[in-house]
Amino acid sequence: MKDNVDNIKKKGWLDIEIDPMLDLLAEIEKLKKEKNAIVLAHYYQEADIQDVADYIGDSLGLARKAQETDADMIVFAGVHFMAETAKILNPTKKVVLPDLNAGCSLSDSCPPSLFKKFKQQHPDHLVISYINCSAGIKALSDIICTSSNAQKIVEALPIGQKIIFAPDKNLGGFINKQTGRNMVLWNGACMVHEMFSLEKITKLKVRHPNAKLISHPECEEPVLAISDFIGSTTQLLEFVKNDACQEFIVATETGILHQMIKDAPNKTFIPAPPNNACACNDCPHMKLNTLEKLYLCMKYEMPELLMDEELRLAAKKPIDRMLQMSKELGIR
Ligand code: 13P
Ligand code: SF4
Repeated sequence: MKDNVDNIKKKGWLDIEIDPMLDLLAEIEKLKKEKNAIVLAHYYQEADIQDVADYIGDSLGLARKAQETDADMIVFAGVHFMAETAKILNPTKKVVLPDLNAGCSLSDSCPPSLFKKFKQQHPDHLVISYINCSAGIKALSDIICTSSNAQKIVEALPIGQKIIFAPDKNLGGFINKQTGRNMVLWNGACMVHEMFSLEKITKLKVRHPNAKLISHPECEEPVLAISDFIGSTTQLLEFVKNDACQEFIVATETGILHQMIKDAPNKTFIPAPPNNACACNDCPHMKLNTLEKLYLCMKYEMPELLMDEELRLAAKKPIDRMLQMSKELGIR
């Protein structure tokens, strides 16, 4: 065991072989009970991971679940900033994730040292940051938001309030348009949601005249402008379940299609095409997690997410403010 742990620390999971006859889904269920662990997964995870998770959700739902759980170990199948948020909210729990390298291009587009200078240039502004950012950025923020509560949080602030919105310029631009505000935007974006091709989507809409285009607000403005519905992953899922339409073009990461097909099996879902021939609407960070790595991280209880306490407390304040505002504003 000790040899294994040292090896994993040095090389990751590369050298660990898993018996191909092992029923990983059953083993993961066993480990959950043995270790009093909860598996939280984002909708962009591969289908097997979603199926074995105790809870699947968008960033707001996952943060709430991580805060309220009494499990001893939180196994976070998502990306680093999500696991970090779980640790910030529930520090006495052990938080592990299948692959510590599962980052986020949007989070990476906003380094704290540069953001600090940007903030200094706008001294009288309140800072609202999208949850897709590092703990360092959260610590420099006044309120955190997610794609499901961003608009309502901005609307709840006084009209004249000057605001910096970081790091996603697309979500920030969308909120500016919806609310008539003029928030100063950090120039960051998500590599997956920027890839959708307006031209190919337009052609697809011509071929499927009855399909509704549904998009995540991280998409660029021209795609949002022709969308029938815009929302967080959970909101997109709710929309396809409840709307009378039978066919949807889905402009977000493809992992969400698994739940859409499960929840609305008689409807048709067409992934919006990216602007080249690759599978660019798969998030390469989210997809670093695999069922094998999930099993190994539960078995060996690593890699573990650890945080500096001072940073954790500073990053917690704006998240607490978001959770409190979401509660007051009745956001589910
Ligand atoms: P939500 O699931 O909160 O909509 O976020 C989408 C996303 O890009 C997460 O990385
Ligand atoms: Fe980050 Fe985009 Fe991947 Fe979400 S989909 S984790 S925002 S790179």
